[in-house]
Amino acid sequence: MPATAGARPPDGAVREPTFHLTGTTPAGRLYWDPDVLRTELERFYYRHWLCIGREDRIPAPGDFFTTRVGPESILLVRDGKGRIGAFYNLCRHRGTRVALEEGGRGAHSFVCPYHSWTYSLDGRLTGAPHTKTIEKFDRAEFGLWPVRVETWGGFIWINLEPKGPSLKEELGTFLHRFDATPLDGLKLGGGKIYEVEANWKIIVENFSECYHCAPVHPSLNRLTPYMTGDNDAYFHEPGGRSLYSGGYMEFAKDYTSMTRTGYTKRPVLPGTTPEDSKRVRYYTVFPNMFFSLHPDFLMTHRVWPTSPSHCRIENEFYFSPEAAAAPDFDPSDAIELWDEINLQDWRVCALAQEGVASRAWKGGRYSEQEALTADFDAFVTEELAHKK
Ligand code: FES
Ligand SMILES: [Fe+2]
Repeated sequence: MPATAGARPPDGAVREPTFHLTGTTPAGRLYWDPDVLRTELERFYYRHWLCIGREDRIPAPGDFFTTRVGPESILLVRDGKGRIGAFYNLCRHRGTRVALEEGGRGAHSFVCPYHSWTYSLDGRLTGAPHTKTIEKFDRAEFGLWPVRVETWGGFIWINLEPKGPSLKEELGTFLHRFDATPLDGLKLGGGKIYEVEANWKIIVENFSECYHCAPVHPSLNRLTPYMTGDNDAYFHEPGGRSLYSGGYMEFAKDYTSMTRTGYTKRPVLPGTTPEDSKRVRYYTVFPNMFFSLHPDFLMTHRVWPTSPSHCRIENEFYFSPEAAAAPDFDPSDAIELWDEINLQDWRVCALAQEGVASRAWKGGRYSEQEALTADFDAFVTEELAHKK
């Protein structure tokens, strides 16, 4: 949602955008071709760190949930030692899905529904009926396929690439921005899952600009007018490429939060500077997470492509433990406003999806207000053009 073409790093010094707006927006194939989506899944979603939810969703041993990354199903489970493990949700016998539920509590093992191969909470194969005499079959080699998993800020992150940079190596400069904010203890206050008829990149492009805010979001634009704020992170940074972009928007008048009234009784989150108490900070973490830190709550969106023209979006809201424990805690003032804004966004994104699928579409031109959108598009097209 950040606004302008200007760019201001955290030290406050104004600098020029890292690239120009003279190119055209992407041609249609990027938005409807299944081959493009396959490549994007392979290069982006399967090779980068993905935030998939909160650690406290599975607080105790045996608690688990499954999540989708493209056609893949990933099983997240807390083992007997309290560690979170991530595995491909498929049996090593003949490939059947092992965990069929979206989530559960207190499991002791996972039993494949087909021939009952059994896996422990840490993914080891502990039961495989009628295999004792099978030669060269070592159960130790047939545990669930592991997926890399790390945690930060109370969030679980996974990476489907077996080797590669750690979460900190890949996203350290992003994570570092929030050192002062105790994100670990934040409590989920609510959320919603949206099914949206648009390519995942259209969702990211839309989040990257507020050029549309006056016509599309009158209530947002009243609280944070679209010409306020600045961008302070690009995928193309002067020193090289980064995996996040974004900036901030400023409240008009004496508004204090993104709620129906523009005000909140909730205190600002611990660690919030006076400057940030007047701002909403919006970031895109490549490829699919929006991280929107408000003075009094954190909002995230996670965008999961399900086809070239469709995605599922998980939107969640997190509040300080103190605010969440208050007897009159009611997050609906923020959640309802954002539901309205989200639906306004998904509508125009779906309309854009229809148009870019047209045989007439050859790419358009950026406005001065779309530096982050152009930055993202350039990043994606460069990544897709690499021979890998
Ligand atoms: S496919 Fe899982 S036990 Fe046969
Ligand atoms: Fe919007």
